[in-house]
Amino acid sequence: MKRITVIGTGYLGAVHAASMASLGYEVLGMDVDAEKIAALAAGRPPFFEPGFDELLGEQVASGRLRFTNSYADLASFGGEERGDTVHFVCVNTPQRKGEYAADTAYIDSVIDNLAPLLDVPTLIIGKSTVPAGTAARLTSRLRALSPAGDEMRLAWNPEFLREGYAIEDTLRPDRLVIGVQDAESEAALREVYRPLTDAGIPLLVTDLATSELVKAAANAFLSTKISFINAMAEVCEAAGADVMLLSKALSFDPRIGGRFLVPGLGFGGGCLPKDIRAFMARAGELGADQALAFLKEVDAINMRRRARTIDLAREECDGSFLGKRIAVWGAAFKPDTDDVRDSPALNVAASILLQGAQVTVYDPKANDTAAKNFPTLTYADSALEAAQGADLILHLTEWREFRELDPNAVGEVVAERRVLDGRNALDSDLWRAAGFTYRALGRPSAA
Ligand code: UDX
Repeated sequence: MKRITVIGTGYLGAVHAASMASLGYEVLGMDVDAEKIAALAAGRPPFFEPGFDELLGEQVASGRLRFTNSYADLASFGGEERGDTVHFVCVNTPQRKGEYAADTAYIDSVIDNLAPLLDVPTLIIGKSTVPAGTAARLTSRLRALSPAGDEMRLAWNPEFLREGYAIEDTLRPDRLVIGVQDAESEAALREVYRPLTDAGIPLLVTDLATSELVKAAANAFLSTKISFINAMAEVCEAAGADVMLLSKALSFDPRIGGRFLVPGLGFGGGCLPKDIRAFMARAGELGADQALAFLKEVDAINMRRRARTIDLAREECDGSFLGKRIAVWGAAFKPDTDDVRDSPALNVAASILLQGAQVTVYDPKANDTAAKNFPTLTYADSALEAAQGADLILHLTEWREFRELDPNAVGEVVAERRVLDGRNALDSDLWRAAGFTYRALGRPSAA
């Protein structure tokens, strides 16, 4: 049975490590962040992800899942049989400061640190989202730096997991994609993923560049679908139509489908925004910039949703935020995570604060991560506490908890019964019946 190491223990790496251990592999997770490693080794997740607490606890207790911050430990994992150990690289590839392109410095540094220590032919598998051509470049670097030279192997295995469903998406993904350069790497990856393919998960084998592009294309398509329906929301507003009914009617066409067709405040998070920008930048370098020019529009439509939400909120506040009290429900970029990277909710909350309102934010899981990034906002311990004395409630992340609130109880604590549903997720009839003015993006004011 193969041994596995996982380098980089963020949402992707930590879940991958624990999931692989749950399949029976001996796994060693590695990160340069000593605090994160100490927490994981003690069975404490450094972030919120449904089900991860239990999975991590079980796998650490089983002894199959261990953690380190030493590259030497990674290289020697497996002892005499260390050549059978496969190393997954799961570090992040953030957007470069002041540019659209992805910064691959963390992956480069993994190769630079690990390769010189790998003295027997070994397989390294990249999972991070990278510009097309990165894997080929890293293969040369790996072979130049390792004592095993040209016998070193590199493969790419892009990850499609969604936060909030990370475990499910790792153990029961829609498909596995592996980009390989030789039969031996393909065989090793087929063996690692046998428990999944035996359960019927399709596995596609490609060249390196195609595997890198599959991920970029998937994120580009999903972003485009969201911005498409949000563009329809803009047209619906202009025409006095209802984008929710429009979206529902479109969803019955199986060629279109209803998923990722929910209009609202748009997409955020650590992946979609930066990935479409990096994709445009890479296409430009390759001389194919025209092919992806539409993604600029996708990005612009998405950012306009934030501006439109702020404008609509101001309208609801009789034209000015000065001295107004605004309750913001939701801070995470989407429900079921505490991740606030490029969160549309926080972007809106912070802009309204800067325009003179008092803004109180409540998120079921993301108050702490939000407060680290936006300490000037006020945070409440419950949705009702945030709504206390509010002139307007903004519903910006669609946690189930908010849908289950009784609008009558909320009505008791607010100053004005006004709600703006940035996610088209609340029951407008219920809120109106409780005397609220209900507004939402892309829908007529009395729909
Ligand atoms: C995404 C991809 O789905 C995943 O395959 C990839 O590996 C990483 O990026 P994630 O960032 O976890 O995953 O979030 P996702 O569930 O895709 O949602 C992205 C954003 O789109 C969220 O801000 C969400 O609120 C928004 N969204 C989603 C909409 O605005 N409307 C929709 O209909 C769907």
